[in-house]
Amino acid sequence: MCSTDINQYLENNKNWVNSVLSNDKEYFDDLKEGQHPKALLLGCSDSRVSPSMVLGSELGELFIHRNIANVVSHTDLNFLSVMQFAVENLGVKDIIVYGHYGCGGVKAAYENNANGLIDNWLANIKDVIRHHKAELNSVVDENERLNRLVELNVLEQIENIKQTSIYRQAIESGIKLKLYAWVFDFNTGLVIDLKKKYKITPSIT
Ligand code: CO
Repeated sequence: MCSTDINQYLENNKNWVNSVLSNDKEYFDDLKEGQHPKALLLGCSDSRVSPSMVLGSELGELFIHRNIANVVSHTDLNFLSVMQFAVENLGVKDIIVYGHYGCGGVKAAYENNANGLIDNWLANIKDVIRHHKAELNSVVDENERLNRLVELNVLEQIENIKQTSIYRQAIESGIKLKLYAWVFDFNTGLVIDLKKKYKITPSIT
């Protein structure tokens, strides 16, 4: 991994502004008019999974919330506020849960060692482990088991989104929210659509 001098980012920023303006002089005038993002994305805070970069999205396209291991907790006012604003104010209809193989948060929950404050957050993933204990135990290779846990965690967070009052109210008012379960793979750089991989159509809208 490179060790960039922090101030280099400010230089990078100036270069980026120059390059953007050389392509489109009105880029920032358009941007300040307001946002109409295509989707809400919940991802992991991990520095290696930057959704905007990996998905090639432009500014204004993704409304993003990130936390350790892309968890939807019903007591997390931060995510719930982001989701409410995205759905009710911005009119976002597509919600992506974007996990990643090799997730340190998922691994820490699986290993179940004491890590202090973060254990309270990881308890959300320990619930996923408990719900899927039999399936996880049936995977012999530990690395594959962790990969499966990453996938199950994404799918469980989709279920958690469906339990929120925001989702239920949207559906009751006839708004068709679409939920996507995606996993980023460090090995290939590719993002895997779990719905396609496992042909899960009815359970995720
Ligand atoms: Co992670």
